[in-house]
Amino acid sequence: MKKAYVKSYGCQMNAYDAARMADVLGAEGYAAADSAEDADVIILNTCHIREKAAEKVYSELGRLRVLKAERRAEGRDTRIVVAGCVAQAEGAEIQARQPAVDVVVGPQSYHRLPDLLARSRSGRVVDTEFPIEDKFDHLPARRGLGPSAFLTVQEGCDKFCAFCVVPYTRGAEVSRPAAAVLEEAARLAAGGVREVTLIGQNVNAYHGAGADGAPVSLAALIREVARIPGLSRIRYTTSHPNDFGDDLVRAHAEIPALMPYLHLPVQSGSDRVLAAMNRKHTADAYRRLVDRVRAARPDIALSSDFIVGFPGETDADFADTLTLVRDIGFESAFSFKYSPRPGTPAAEWGDQVPEAVMAERLAELQRVLDARRHAYQKSAEGQVFDVLVEKAGRHPGQVAGKTPHLLAVQFDAPQDHIGRIVPVRITEAGANSLFGALLPEAAAA
Ligand code: 5AD
Ligand code: SF4
Repeated sequence: MKKAYVKSYGCQMNAYDAARMADVLGAEGYAAADSAEDADVIILNTCHIREKAAEKVYSELGRLRVLKAERRAEGRDTRIVVAGCVAQAEGAEIQARQPAVDVVVGPQSYHRLPDLLARSRSGRVVDTEFPIEDKFDHLPARRGLGPSAFLTVQEGCDKFCAFCVVPYTRGAEVSRPAAAVLEEAARLAAGGVREVTLIGQNVNAYHGAGADGAPVSLAALIREVARIPGLSRIRYTTSHPNDFGDDLVRAHAEIPALMPYLHLPVQSGSDRVLAAMNRKHTADAYRRLVDRVRAARPDIALSSDFIVGFPGETDADFADTLTLVRDIGFESAFSFKYSPRPGTPAAEWGDQVPEAVMAERLAELQRVLDARRHAYQKSAEGQVFDVLVEKAGRHPGQVAGKTPHLLAVQFDAPQDHIGRIVPVRITEAGANSLFGALLPEAAAA
């Protein structure tokens, strides 16, 4: 039997796409390989968001080229596919840089993989179109599902933040029709999924067509998904502050299945930098939104993204970011040095911040963010949470799962608890994970 291996980089949408590419090849008779070494088709599902992410592709391809040559010497064929956002952005250049690549396929065309692989036998193939047909209509049933699954509801972005490649690699905002999302969610639930994360580059701009053709908001969609039997937990990511309607704020107060965790990137705490970034909101508007969300759901865990060293960022601008971070107190966060991306407006600007300054600012920001995160993790000690058990734990006899606030927990429990939601008392907060004890009532249940 032929085997396929998909290695995915970057965001949750790429993780979803990687799973769907595995589904496409699965339907063609390919089994899932555990490693590239073991596979006949190797897919790198790439990320273009920052330079470092994009560069990883080429170093990995260098390694795969050697593997492919060794295999050929043994008379075995290996196909190498580059998918994802680097494929979309760089297209045929990838094959020019790395001749071992057989297929380049963009994020909107991967339902055509079987055809592209067949065509690659007589020459190298590039497909980076935004096709008229909707890939979702051509994807086979999902396989290999765990208790928690991603579900793409919206793709692309019309915001054009000055630093960001997404509007170019993923294209304009497109929402899937509500019925298509609900059908996929129901199938996930029937396949044993307990938690679904609705994903989109700008998920709260979701406006898919409803049954009557009128647009449905993300909040309305979440209400519908919450009615599907078996789905106990709903999450969504990533949101933009400007698309956060009152109905979504209310959803956090009213829908028990909607989990108390929100990833809401702010990028900077300086109004000057926010304006230069084309974010179209101020730091104060963000604070007011957070106040509304916290009023609706006081225990909500808030997460964000930050960029330090955006062109023109001064010490005073950076101080504004630190002030915002201290005022809001994010429970978790991702922070990055600004990385100029080809084709984006900010990459062309003259006032780039020196690398050493960026490194210093990033370290300082991360110190503040980490301190708050550790305090938050520590505050979980002694508390009891419902934990969705997702997989085997690091050590034998252990399982791993997540609290409603998306904290990772390891604890001793039988492996047949995977897929169940059980009460767990947190005994200790480690560096990256919490440790807990399954409560006896659940063990007996
Ligand atoms: N440089 C650094 N970080 C970036 N991000 C997006 N583009 C860039 C860039 N050019 C970050 C933003 C975004 C997250 C997904 O990646 O913080 O929210
Ligand atoms: Fe990129 Fe801004 Fe769109 Fe987010 S909102 S994907 S950062 S352009």
